[in-house]
Amino acid sequence: MCNNIDSNKIDLNSEPPLDEPARQFYFMEKCRGYVSGLKERLGRSPSFFIQTFGCQMNFHDSEKIVAILERIGFVEAEGENADFVLYNTCTVRENANERVYGRLGQLKRVKKNNPEMIIGICGCMMQEEHVIEKIRKSYKFVDIVFGTHNIFKFAELLYARLRSGEQIIDIWKEADRIVEELPVDRKYDFKCGVNIMYGCNNFCSYCIVPYVRGRERSRTPDDIISEIRRLVDDGVIEIMLLGQNVNSYGKNLDTEITFAKLLKEIEKIDGLERIRFMTSHPKDLSDELIEVMAASKKICRHIHLPLQSGSSRILKKMNRRYTKEQYLELVDKIKKAMPDISITTDLIVGFPGETDEDVDETIDVVKKVGYDSAFTFQYSRRTGTPAASMENQVPKEAVTRNFDRLLKTVQEVAAKRTARFEGQTMSVLVEEVDSHEEGMLTGRLGNNTVVHFDGGRDLIGSIVDVRLDECRGFYYIGRQVNINK
Ligand code: SAH
Ligand code: SF4
Ligand code: F3S
Repeated sequence: MCNNIDSNKIDLNSEPPLDEPARQFYFMEKCRGYVSGLKERLGRSPSFFIQTFGCQMNFHDSEKIVAILERIGFVEAEGENADFVLYNTCTVRENANERVYGRLGQLKRVKKNNPEMIIGICGCMMQEEHVIEKIRKSYKFVDIVFGTHNIFKFAELLYARLRSGEQIIDIWKEADRIVEELPVDRKYDFKCGVNIMYGCNNFCSYCIVPYVRGRERSRTPDDIISEIRRLVDDGVIEIMLLGQNVNSYGKNLDTEITFAKLLKEIEKIDGLERIRFMTSHPKDLSDELIEVMAASKKICRHIHLPLQSGSSRILKKMNRRYTKEQYLELVDKIKKAMPDISITTDLIVGFPGETDEDVDETIDVVKKVGYDSAFTFQYSRRTGTPAASMENQVPKEAVTRNFDRLLKTVQEVAAKRTARFEGQTMSVLVEEVDSHEEGMLTGRLGNNTVVHFDGGRDLIGSIVDVRLDECRGFYYIGRQVNINK
């Protein structure tokens, strides 16, 4: 998606505009000048490679950066042997951080062979002071460092680096505004993420996200709807509404609006076929939302409803603000309204003070709910969060043992649950050519389950009916039944 700013109308001899996004379009043009010089020197278009870690928000942010890089003349490369390499980082668990440091070490060697190479890092890790100190001290070869709140300024920062040749570090503690209307390069032509809100106010006691993504900020319904309209005009049929807790959408807006009402408005957009959203916090999931979902033809029958723990005692310490019983009641209500719904979840094992009995409670909920799938994580101690300084951190041995038995239950439950549509014919949005088997395509059901079936690449981006012949654990092998549709 590109927006309406005409690059021929940007006067590069004048001072940069102060308004956004005009200012960034000005810097994109400035960068373009540099990049075409670089192209001449290299005898080819300079290339870029972005590695994204973490959640859908990060992936969507990367799509914005890709669009800027392409606009200024870079072409995408397959791997880290590129002229510009950017890591968009996640810090939700410690192992994500370790991976980034490891990869940076390797990049240093690549840069020795290509001194013109530019290395950037951005994303959630950059919002932590100790990370920035480490980069300043031990990773001087990194050229551009920015955080989650000023991603829209990427062109300006890149230009500063290209002009000065110096390391540019720009981190904002808080976001002071939402900058709209920058270009986005979609990975898929037919589906796209749309941010409806940024940040999080929930402060679950184990979680670093509120510290690195800032306070909750909702976009206005008008902005969201006009973005989706533009996307649909451009061929998108499925959108994923993104937010850390979509159920609290609108709380900080002047307009009287709830997430359910927003969905109702989005549903009216002609040409849009599927609406997804992520993530739902159980404490804010309203009856109104269940009603709107149940009545909708476009909202997918899938709710990602992170449980984290099935023990009310641990949930309280996690500051999740629901009990095991309340969660199960909510699930019952959802299932009553939509018997075909798929529910997925996130689980944490090893929160401080967790006993084997607490994990039994989690296993009990997994069985009672019957999740279609669940992400199971080992608790990771994040500096600065309340849980990090709690007593009774659980020994590694107990975490591994409990993790293994929880995972086993999750796999058994999910395999059984996923298979419940075997033999039925359902709509599949075809996403890509199957990377494992020639002649096969990969797509998704409305409930997000993956389906593989025979077909040509011309079907990519369309919705077709597929008979779900065989469930193999967490995916189906099927066959198309309506060749002419
Ligand atoms: N906003 C979403 C989750 C975002 S983070 C929600 O509340 O549901 C994605 C998942 O990472 C969380 O659901 C949680 O299961 C996991 N997670 C967050 N912090 C963690 C930590 N310190 N250790 C292990 N897992 C964690
Ligand atoms: Fe983290 Fe809780 Fe916010 Fe989710 S709702 S991002 S787990 S603090
Ligand atoms: Fe990770 Fe940031 Fe998402 S910490 S999970 S990338 S919001």
